Amino acid sequence: MAQEFERTHERPAVPMPPPLDFPEHGQPEAEVLDELAARAAEDPYPVERNFGVSYVGPPHPITERVRPLAAGRFFVEWARDMNPATDRLEKEAVRMLGSLLGCPQAVGFITSGGTESNLLALRLARNLHGQSEPEVVLPETAHYSFRLGAELLGLRLREVPVDAAMQPDMRQVERAITPRTAALVCSAPEGNFGQLDPVAEFADLAERRGLYLHVDAAFGGFALPFLRDLGYPIPAFDFSLPGVTSMMTDGHKLGLLPVATGFFLLRDAALLEAIPAGVTGIHTITATKPGDHAAAAWAVMRHLGRQGYRASTRQLMDVVRIVSEGIERIDGLRLLVPPLLAVVNFTSERGDTERIYLELRRRGWGATYGHAGGAGRIRLSIHPHRDPRRAHQFVAALEESVRTIRPTH
Ligand SMILES: Cc1ncc(COP(=O)(O)O)c(C=O)c1O
Repeated sequence: MAQEFERTHERPAVPMPPPLDFPEHGQPEAEVLDELAARAAEDPYPVERNFGVSYVGPPHPITERVRPLAAGRFFVEWARDMNPATDRLEKEAVRMLGSLLGCPQAVGFITSGGTESNLLALRLARNLHGQSEPEVVLPETAHYSFRLGAELLGLRLREVPVDAAMQPDMRQVERAITPRTAALVCSAPEGNFGQLDPVAEFADLAERRGLYLHVDAAFGGFALPFLRDLGYPIPAFDFSLPGVTSMMTDGHKLGLLPVATGFFLLRDAALLEAIPAGVTGIHTITATKPGDHAAAAWAVMRHLGRQGYRASTRQLMDVVRIVSEGIERIDGLRLLVPPLLAVVNFTSERGDTERIYLELRRRGWGATYGHAGGAGRIRLSIHPHRDPRRAHQFVAALEESVRTIRPTH
């Protein structure tokens, strides 16, 4: 299986079941629900045992209690006066995040997630630039949504290579700038290895060259401020740097919000003039949005506050530490880079990484398998709902998996 961030250059399959008639008659509720329960059981591992894929996990339990209050609610930007309360929840959630990320005046939107938010940034930067053949300069580790955006929006990406610590050479970044450059992009952190790009250096460069800078803080936005509160040395990565034009972060990653809750934030409302919303109707890409997501975002932030998020971040880091130390204790396994936040990458020096991955999977534990520099690697992305008990169980399963495939050791 290819990892989320790999470029295989192979066309991925789109597997479809056999043709299925649209049913003439409805089926009793109980039957439908039973069948659904059976389908859910077909997935190889329950979410609690899935340590792979995009940091996503169950949202904070308060969201279950929010749902009945917001049931059936939705909101559409052009019909704001139909759903003013829900619209306001969205805008207040945006303001709370803006204040967390160094810009209480930030304007923005709830999106369907990181991909949509990154597309919004590319589109805004392209429109502001307004010239033909626009280009975007970014480290090669940036999320694939930028490649998708380039394809959709007619942009050329100038990707700058990174070193073994996943850092781009800033002289190369600067050399990649041309009069066609519409934006610089960097990540806090990038998703593949979870390492922080030199955001302050990007911000300086953007200021010096008068360029738009977008920061992809998909999973950092809801965690780095709290890590800093906990005493970790986190450099500036947000709107506190004057060169940062826009940011995004995903609530459904480390923010304990339901899946499909992203945020796109902009320092200066005046920049929105580059979006022809008088014609397009909306500033975002999706029109009718789930009101319960806005309500959940508002409610979880209000309920947890900084204090609550500090606690969930502390728990996350405990899990990351238990898992990382567990990996390093196992003979022949090696972390590829020291984890900064929620991403752990490791390999086996015995060349049996894929077999370890498959054995973990057979035991009902999810991870993702791929390649780095020609060698196999297992990537974990850890969500704050995982507790230390689960982390110890994962390490035990990993130890057993290694023992199973190397019986002579
Ligand atoms: C750094 C980064 N940016 C963007 C995204 C895209 O987010 P989504 O899957 O919500 O579209 C991800 C997802 O893993 C990510 O890690």
